[in-house]
Amino acid sequence: MKLLLSLILFIFVAFATAHNDCPKSAYLDVPPSDLVQAKDLSAADKVFHEKYMRIAIQVAIDNNAKFAAAIVHKNGTVMCTGVNTGRARIYHGEIEAIVNCTQMYGKKTWEDHYLYTTGEPCVMCSGAIMWSKFDKTIFASYVNNMYCERCFNQLPMDSNEIFKLGYGINHNTQLIGGVLEEITDTFFPSLCGTDNSWGVVPLCSENWRRSCPRSSRYFGY
Ligand SMILES: *[C@@H]1O[C@H](CO)[C@@H](O)[C@H](O)[C@H]1NC(C)=O
Ligand SMILES: *[C@@H]1O[C@H](CO)[C@@H](O)[C@H](O)[C@H]1NC(C)=O
Ligand SMILES: [Zn+2]
Repeated sequence: MKLLLSLILFIFVAFATAHNDCPKSAYLDVPPSDLVQAKDLSAADKVFHEKYMRIAIQVAIDNNAKFAAAIVHKNGTVMCTGVNTGRARIYHGEIEAIVNCTQMYGKKTWEDHYLYTTGEPCVMCSGAIMWSKFDKTIFASYVNNMYCERCFNQLPMDSNEIFKLGYGINHNTQLIGGVLEEITDTFFPSLCGTDNSWGVVPLCSENWRRSCPRSSRYFGY
């Protein structure tokens, strides 16, 4: 009996010790990669990126949609566009553009290309953009502004949380946020308290507002 109790105690301690040795995650926590905000762009970069964001915006407007994307070679050649028409829940503007460009050019990866999108890429699209190895992604409206401020349904995560994981695929895509958001934000009237099916009750930090600094979150190193 005594032997049995000792054995049970031994097994228990062994298990407890093994668990205590375990890290929280298999992966090291890395700081978010840099997100350049539109207001911090050089004058020349601002002109360049606004020019191509206007193309994505026009595609959205022409299709009576909110989310559209344009893929542009860094030399300024517009390669293709895509728009979320809701034909499937996963065909977001970014996915439509990537699929469109892939069909048009038979290319699998998009080094030296920029992807412009009217809304910050969701978790799914952020992954798709990284796997496709874009050089830069430029977005207009921020997820947290759409979701927290105007109750627009979104997977509530800053795209940088995904873009920081580039070390795992040996490719980093630079993020530029807020380019012409003053235009695209008008696509997202507040749905708070309405019965619009795209509206949600956002779970956001109480004191969050769009003027809160993004720097502590984004400029990790
Ligand atoms: C820009 O890149 C595109 C796509 O690779 C290419 O077709 C085009 O010829 C290039 N234009 C210039 C001026 O280099
Ligand atoms: C694909 O891109 C081309 C070139 O920009 C565009 O004319 C066409 O409408 C796009 N197709 C789809 C399905 O979005
Ligand atoms: Zn998406």
